[in-house]
Amino acid sequence: MSSPKVYVLAGPPGSGKGTQAKLLAPELKVPHISLGDLLREAVRSGTEVGKLAKSYLDAGKLVPDSVAIKVAEEAVTKKECRNGFVIDGFPRTLEQAKLFDALLIKLKFDLSKVLYIDIPLKEILKRLTGRRSCRNCGAVYNLTSKPPKVENVCDVCGGELYQRKDDTEDVIKVRFGVYEKQTSPLVDYYKKQGKLVYIDGTQKVDQVFKEVCKAVS
Ligand code: AP5
Repeated sequence: MSSPKVYVLAGPPGSGKGTQAKLLAPELKVPHISLGDLLREAVRSGTEVGKLAKSYLDAGKLVPDSVAIKVAEEAVTKKECRNGFVIDGFPRTLEQAKLFDALLIKLKFDLSKVLYIDIPLKEILKRLTGRRSCRNCGAVYNLTSKPPKVENVCDVCGGELYQRKDDTEDVIKVRFGVYEKQTSPLVDYYKKQGKLVYIDGTQKVDQVFKEVCKAVS
C-alpha cells in the first residue's frame, strides 16, 4: 500500500495559501492544517503556547522553531490525518523543513508536492489590508476580490467579521521581510528534492485552484 500523501502550500504572506488549502483539502478528502490558525487559536484560548506566541504574531515575526514544530507535530499526529493532509504556513524555516522531513519519515507519510504560490509585495499589501475573517467560523473574505454580501457579516454563519491584528501595512512589511529572509530559502530546498511546483498567485482564485489541482493530479 502506498504511503498517505502530504501537500504543503507555501508562499509569501497573503499569497492565497489558506484560500487554496481550504479548497484543496475537501477535494482530496483530507484535513487542512493551518499553523497560523492553530497559533491564533492558542492565543485566543490563552494556552501556554498561546501566551508565548502572542507577541511574535502581533509583531509579524516567526514564533521559535521549537514552538512551531511542537504545534505542527501535535496536529499531524492526530487520527484525522492518518490518510494524509494539506498543510499551510509550515514549514517556514530550513530547521522546520528538516525536522518536518524527519517526522514524515517516522510517520511513514509521503511529502508529495510543495505548491509554491507567489505574488509581489504590492499585491500582498492590497490583499492583506482588505482581508476580513469571521470570528465564528474562520471564513475569509476580501473587501476587493471577495466582499461579504452584508458589510461585516459572514455569508456562511452570520458571524462578525474582523481584521487580523497583523494585517496593518507596517506589520505586513515586517512579515514580508521575515518571509524573504527566513522562508524563501525553502524554495531551493524543495526544488533540490524535486517537489516544488511554482504557481502564479496573481491570477483569480479559481484559476490558481485549477493549477493547484493539476499539480496534485
Ligand atoms: P499565517 O496565518 O500563516 O500568515 P501568513 O503566512 O502571513 O499568511 P496569511 O494567512 O496572511 O495569507 P495566506 O497566504 O493564507 O492568504 P489568504 O488565503 O488568507 O501566520 C501568521 C503568523 O503566525 C506568522 O506571522 C507567525 O508569527 C506565526 N506562524 C505561522 N506559522 C509559523 C511557523 N511555521 N513558524 C513560526 N511562526 C509561524 O488570502 C489573503 C487575502 O487575499 C484574503 O482576503 C483572500 O480572500 C484574498 N485572496 C486569496 N487568493 C486571492 C486571489 N487569487 N485573488 C485575489 N484575492 C485573493
